[in-house]
Amino acid sequence: MLIDGEWTESRDGKWLEVVNPANEQRIAEVPAGTATDIDRAVKAARRAFDTGPWSRMRPSERQRLLLRLADLIEENAQTMAEIESIDNGKSVQMALAVDVALTIDFLRYMAGWATKIEGSTVDVSVPYAMQGEFFAYTRREPVGVVAAIVPWNFPLLVAAWKLGPALATGCTVVLKPAEQTPLSALFLGELILAAGFPQGVVNIVTGDGPNAGAPLTQHPMVHKISFTGSTEVGKLIGKTAMENMTRVTLELGGKSPVVVLDDCDPAAAAAGAANAIFFNHGQVCCAGSRLYVQRKMFDRVVADVAQIASSMPLGHGLDPNAQMGPLVSREQMDRVCGYIDIGRSEGAQLVTGGGRAGEKGYFVKPTVFAGDRQDMRIVQEEIFGPVLVAMPYDDLDEVAGWVNDTPYGLGASIWSNNLSRVQRLIPKIKAGTVWVNCHSMLDSSVPFGGFKQSGFGREMGRASLDAYLESKSVFMAI
Ligand code: NAI
Ligand code: MG
Repeated sequence: MLIDGEWTESRDGKWLEVVNPANEQRIAEVPAGTATDIDRAVKAARRAFDTGPWSRMRPSERQRLLLRLADLIEENAQTMAEIESIDNGKSVQMALAVDVALTIDFLRYMAGWATKIEGSTVDVSVPYAMQGEFFAYTRREPVGVVAAIVPWNFPLLVAAWKLGPALATGCTVVLKPAEQTPLSALFLGELILAAGFPQGVVNIVTGDGPNAGAPLTQHPMVHKISFTGSTEVGKLIGKTAMENMTRVTLELGGKSPVVVLDDCDPAAAAAGAANAIFFNHGQVCCAGSRLYVQRKMFDRVVADVAQIASSMPLGHGLDPNAQMGPLVSREQMDRVCGYIDIGRSEGAQLVTGGGRAGEKGYFVKPTVFAGDRQDMRIVQEEIFGPVLVAMPYDDLDEVAGWVNDTPYGLGASIWSNNLSRVQRLIPKIKAGTVWVNCHSMLDSSVPFGGFKQSGFGREMGRASLDAYLESKSVFMAI
């Protein structure tokens, strides 16, 4: 682990196994951090924030460090993609094209913001002090020590979404990667040191949720928590944060709908819907896991999606022919297969797939159900695997109701070429992002986050800076 600029083991001497999900082999051991390690890391971050060279650095120097880090990631892109592939199970090409490429782009984008953080000057009236003259302005100041807690589905990228704005604004960070996928964060730690970030600015503590994550969120010297993960843990963290009034943003689960209107090209919609659910093996917070198709196109679109699903070659992430890898862990595979059983027992019709593939590695067959009731658990609950449930609908008002009828509100996509139908639907959808004729498109400059139980706060774009900045108002009698 990286604490105060030095590589260190856990003080308690415990270790965590890291497993390659494609073959169930142990590939590494990392320290199992505990409250003692968290305390060391938070205090290092605090020192770096208060008195270290970082606290005196100019914005342009922070910008330069972030750009240097992005360059180093680019130089090591293939290695990082391979690490992500054997640790998480995703394909190395996908890791290179999506995870690593977006990470580099995002750090460069955020580097630019370091020199563009602005307050405002205000012409004030102060009606109860008419004899005085005043000048007022606001300044934006870094919030302090940031606890960044990251999940296993996009380990490097989600870490970057938190490190980027934290470092651009001048905060310091304790990063806790997911226990299933700690390796890319540790490699990133080496690059952070090589880039020249002063000691203690970024600390990386590996460990699980209860023993490392929880004490990090409870630490009184942490000023802001940025969490991505399950809604269940997000709620716990929200309550913990309130105890110390720690600022908090939560990017949580989803059950995002894909809505196909009967004016569109069914083959294009089916290909889009398949990609929306099967990308990253369905382990995507905004995965299109509910497919609503207008009735006259329903059979055609569902058959096409099922055809794509059943012909998708599964395999090791380093195998260039594999289109889908294993799920991240045995726990996740069991959870997803459990939902497939629930779907069957709820009476949903299994169109294709339906359980584990093979006996070695955590592979699950791309699965498509046809459902007929909104209240089915496979329609309501986040599965976080390659499992799609499709339902027919008749009119747009009906489907608008169904789209919003889950606790979540992260993303939604609409497939149609009729502008007025699309425009009438967009305002009705309670979700942080609406895609039209695409799904899961993300960009460094566009805010991403949830309505409802998908969390609060936004990542990426200018909006993400707000969560890392306090606003200070200054009044001056002149
Ligand atoms: P999780 O929410 O338990 O884990 C995410 C991160 O939170 C990990 O780093 C973990 O160590 C940490 N964590 C866990 N408990 C904590 C606690 N009490 N205090 C502080 N940190 C804690 O998610 P998990 O168990 O890996 O997956 C369960 C389900 O959560 C998935 O099946 C999926 O539905 C959802 N999920 C959603 C993600 C998203 O991108 N929104 C990412 C990962 C999981
Ligand atoms: Mg958990």
